[in-house]
Amino acid sequence: MTTATAAEAAYVVAALLFILSLAGLSQHRTSRSGVVWGIAGMVIALAATVGLASRSISATGLVLIAVATAVGAGIGLWRARVVEMTGMPELIAIMHSLVGLAAAFVGCNGYLDVDAGGHTGQEITGSLLRIHHAEVFIGVFIGAVTFTGSVVAYLKLSARIKSRPLMLPGRHILNLGALAAFAVLTVAFVARPHMGLLIAVTVVALALGAHLVASIGGGDMPVVVSMLNSYSGWAAAASGFLLANNLLIVTGALVGSSGAYLSYIMCRAMNRSFLSVIAGGFGGETAVAGDGAEQGEHREISAEETAELLQDASSVIITPGYGMAVAQAQYPVAELARKLRERGVDVRFGIHPVAGRLPGHMNVLLAEANVPYDIVLEMDEINDDFAATSVVLVIGANDTVNPSAAEDPASPIAGMPVLHVWQAAQVVVFKRSMATGYAGVQNPLFFRENSQMLFGDAKQRVEDILRSLDATTAPAPAMVGTNR
Ligand code: TAP
Repeated sequence: MTTATAAEAAYVVAALLFILSLAGLSQHRTSRSGVVWGIAGMVIALAATVGLASRSISATGLVLIAVATAVGAGIGLWRARVVEMTGMPELIAIMHSLVGLAAAFVGCNGYLDVDAGGHTGQEITGSLLRIHHAEVFIGVFIGAVTFTGSVVAYLKLSARIKSRPLMLPGRHILNLGALAAFAVLTVAFVARPHMGLLIAVTVVALALGAHLVASIGGGDMPVVVSMLNSYSGWAAAASGFLLANNLLIVTGALVGSSGAYLSYIMCRAMNRSFLSVIAGGFGGETAVAGDGAEQGEHREISAEETAELLQDASSVIITPGYGMAVAQAQYPVAELARKLRERGVDVRFGIHPVAGRLPGHMNVLLAEANVPYDIVLEMDEINDDFAATSVVLVIGANDTVNPSAAEDPASPIAGMPVLHVWQAAQVVVFKRSMATGYAGVQNPLFFRENSQMLFGDAKQRVEDILRSLDATTAPAPAMVGTNR
């Protein structure tokens, strides 16, 4: 078997492992094995690629590849070990920027390589050469858009720049103009390739990527992250065409399509059309909406009173949000669920698709704290059950439980599906202040008659409740019935 055939066979195995990895990652139970499949696929892919390259690369070149791989892997390991769960979205964004940068470099190299006679052993002419030049141009464009888009997303998510959308006058015209310029430049480049045209499209793409993401704000950022994930996949696929590497094409297409599908799911979860997200702007007015509106009085509750409420409850639903991640309250929350279940209380978790700051954020935290999977339900599975629930504990969630999304057509988040927590008999909201959530929208839930605020750090307050429960001598029998 030749090296090339062995490498192609290894690529097929790696591609299958990547597909298995995606399948594994789609469910909590199998997500760990999904990660292992992915790592195995990447090891095989790297080994096969280096093996293939070793035929035409000098010993110095191989040493350089080994050093680059070791440095990259070292940085990746270090970042992955130190990153907080709350910092994952910005880490993912900055990783995407590297994929985009690599794709732009591969594109430029593809042009210079062919122009210099190429080292592939076969001369490209005629329509094949035109196709090659189109690939170069598209690869550089997608790569450069992904690069600056991801850098701006990173800066916004890590609060290094304001997350408010940049609302330039005529911003849609600017975006459409950039796309039109790309189309015209592509035709010109395919007809008469020139480095000047490649530089021009790179500048247009860099500006478009930065502007596209700068004009998106507030609650739409999760979709942007998965959209950039999708772009980075297509950028890798474009590189695969240029390098005639089938595995890169397959892997890029897997990442591109899964990222696009995730974006679609999130748009549906926020009741936003994909195009309106890309067009940007959401989040600008929301901060204003959150500031002023008079809502009335809120009521407070202590940890001890909450413990009494829970002891009398027959059913409890816990709806966690970003604040649970900030407070790292998942362990005491899991302990609280366990204790209540021991006392005969029916305890379940209700998870909103965009609770937290990245898809699956709450599921990961709860799995980490060993909460049984069968009591963790998605929004659609649990939303009809709130009306028959004694107590809902809203732990560090805000936008995802905001009734104005369902009831007020004038709300900036109107139409976004939310957890119907306000329908329960009693709602206890754990947060530190009356501040708004991520979208900057005031939450009328806090002022409802059946809502009470438990102020303070979520972890400390849940631990206080646990102490109060422990202090009660015998487990109280759970009451039959729900709404009191
Ligand atoms: P948010 O609306 O962001 O609200 C979180 C709440 O947690 C805040 O109101 C904050 O109030 C409270 N909090 C913060 N630290 C706390 C602590 N230590 N202890 C107790 N409470 C604390 O959260 P959500 O309901 O999860 O909604 C998610 C939002 O983020 C949505 O708007 C969503 O679109 C957006 N988003 C989601 C993603 C993904 S993919 N999930 C990615 C980016 C953005 P205090 O400051 O008063 O404590």
